[in-house]
Amino acid sequence: MKTKNYKIAVYPGDGIGPEVIDQAIRVLRAAEEKDGTFQLEMESFPWGYEFYRQTGTVVPDNYLDVLKEFDAILLGAVGWPEKLSDHETLAPLVRIRQVFDQYACVRPARLYPGLRSVLTDKTSEHIDLVVIRENSEGEYVNNGGRFRRGTPGEVAVQTAIHTRHGIERILRFGFDLARTRRNHLTMITKSNAQRYGFVLWDEILDEIKGEYPDVETTRQHCDAAVMNFVRCPEAFDVVVASNLFGDLLTDLGGIISGGLGLAPSSNLDPSRKYPSMFESVHGSAPDIAGQGIANPIAAVLSAAMMLDHLERESAAELIRQAVGQVLQSGEGTPDLGGNLTTGEMGDRLVAAVASS
Ligand code: NAI
Ligand code: MG
Repeated sequence: MKTKNYKIAVYPGDGIGPEVIDQAIRVLRAAEEKDGTFQLEMESFPWGYEFYRQTGTVVPDNYLDVLKEFDAILLGAVGWPEKLSDHETLAPLVRIRQVFDQYACVRPARLYPGLRSVLTDKTSEHIDLVVIRENSEGEYVNNGGRFRRGTPGEVAVQTAIHTRHGIERILRFGFDLARTRRNHLTMITKSNAQRYGFVLWDEILDEIKGEYPDVETTRQHCDAAVMNFVRCPEAFDVVVASNLFGDLLTDLGGIISGGLGLAPSSNLDPSRKYPSMFESVHGSAPDIAGQGIANPIAAVLSAAMMLDHLERESAAELIRQAVGQVLQSGEGTPDLGGNLTTGEMGDRLVAAVASS
């Protein structure tokens, strides 16, 4: 059979990043072998705090040119706040998202069978949603200024930027995804108080929803959505939100679906002009780094999302099934109440993929 080759840039980063990425790579290799239709050419880049200590910068100057040549980027986590301030370690990451126009941040929140949610009356039947966070504009555009600094009359202005182009493309991305799931889309708004930007969101939703008659569409103000994620998560399928609202809702989505150790994400350029980037929702967790107890599942599920994007869906599904099987066995890393090490969890996942 003819195999297809993909070039993957691996950026393990700092703290637990390299620990969880090691396991994600093992599981990817197991899926590659089992599937047999593709090959991953992985190249690892030792960027981050250690690189900074040796060279004076977190990444080399040409890092975007380097990354541009790959089909996808697999990221561990970056940041070591005690040693270097976050705005320095995280800046290259933000640039990757912006320069590579990774405008769709996709964050599934699914409670696997066998796990208990912090919402004690909810099971895996109730929690299976995907938040799509607009990743390129909105409230996180660096736009504003400060005036009369340090005086009692100090003023700070921070202005969000919402564009018709940006809103329309993220909504269409959400509609397309809803069609592959349960055909339901909730748009998050706050047009009762933010009467320019979010009224534009409302209007664009009304303009385009007729093109997707098979998708049921609702909209909710962000404050109501926060309450409803807790009260009735089963009411959500695909949720499309602005940059800030998506940021808030995905932390909530992460905790109700089993915690940060399990939550994957992707930063997609759906046009495929640039490589997309796949990473856990969690950070570098310096508090547990080096102890071998980090849960690698968030990184492993992010790697599965990468395979989806590379159109290797059956291999991605193999990995998700392996995760489901291991979680259902009741074994887990300490964050799940178990006593497996990072490597032992990797062993279980590799074995589950190999025996599937
Ligand atoms: P964090 O996500 O690294 O950790 C929060 C808490 O969750 C910690 O108690 C940690 O031990 C636990 N945790 C996280 N991932 C875990 C895993 N896989 N298994 C078990 N427990 C896990 O967030 P924190 O501590 O606020 O940030 C640490 C650093 O990470 C900072 O420098 C921050 O800026 C950076 N960061 C980087 C991100 C990225 O690379 N995309 C995303 C978020 C934070
Ligand atoms: Mg956040």
